[in-house]
Amino acid sequence: MRDSGSVFGWLIIAGFSLTLMNYLIRAFYRFAIVHLPSESKVKRVYTRVQRVVVSNHRFFAFFTTVMLLAHVAIQLRYRWLSWTGLTAAAIMVANDALGGYGHYIKKKKRSAWFRAHRVTAVLLIASIIVHLITKR
Ligand code: HEM
Ligand code: HEM
Repeated sequence: MRDSGSVFGWLIIAGFSLTLMNYLIRAFYRFAIVHLPSESKVKRVYTRVQRVVVSNHRFFAFFTTVMLLAHVAIQLRYRWLSWTGLTAAAIMVANDALGGYGHYIKKKKRSAWFRAHRVTAVLLIASIIVHLITKR
C-alpha cells in the first residue's frame, strides 16, 4: 500500500492523456483527415474512433478525478502533503466544474466557458509538470 500512491499518480496521467485526446484527435482531423475523400476508409474509421473519444471525454475526466482522490488519500497517509500536487488537483477540479457547466448547463454550446476550459487545461498541464519535477 505504501508504494501504490505512485501507481495512482500514473493512472491520473493515463486518464488525463485520454481526456486530452479530445483536443488532439480533432486537431489531427482538421490537419489531415478532413482533406481525404468522403469514400476513404481511413476517414470513415477515424471518424468513428473520434466519435468514441469525444463522446467519452467527460467519463475519462471522471476516471482521472477518482484516481486523483485515491492518489491524494494514499500520499497523505504514507508520504506528505504536496503543495504542487494540491495546486494541480485544485485546477483539475475547477476544470471538471467548468466542463460540467458547459456540458450540462450550456448544453455544449461554446462561449466563454469553453475558452476558460481550454486555458485551464493548459494551466493544468503546466502544474502537473511542476509536480512531477519537484514532487514537493
Ligand atoms: C493532478 C494532480 C496530480 C497528479 C497528475 C499527480 C501525479 C503524480 C505522479 C505520477 C507521481 C509519481 C512520480 C514518480 O513516481 O516519480 C506523484 C508523486 C507524488 N504525489 Fe502526486 N499527483 C497529483 C496530485 C497530488 C496531490 C493533490 C498530492 C497531495 C497529497 C500529491 C502528492 C504526491 C506525493 C507526496 C508524491 C511523491 C511520492 C514519493 O516520491 O514517494 N499529488 N504524483
Ligand atoms: C481534467 C479535466 C478536463 C480537461 C483537462 C478537459 C480538457 C478539455 C479540452 C482541452 C477541450 C477542448 C477540446 C477542443 O478544443 O477540441 C475540452 C472540451 C470540452 N470538455 Fe473538457 N476537460 C476536462 C473535463 C471535462 C468534464 C468533466 C466535462 C463534462 C462533464 C467536460 C466537457 C467538455 C465539453 C462539453 C467540451 C466541448 C467540446 C466537446 O463538445 O467535446 N470536460 N475539454
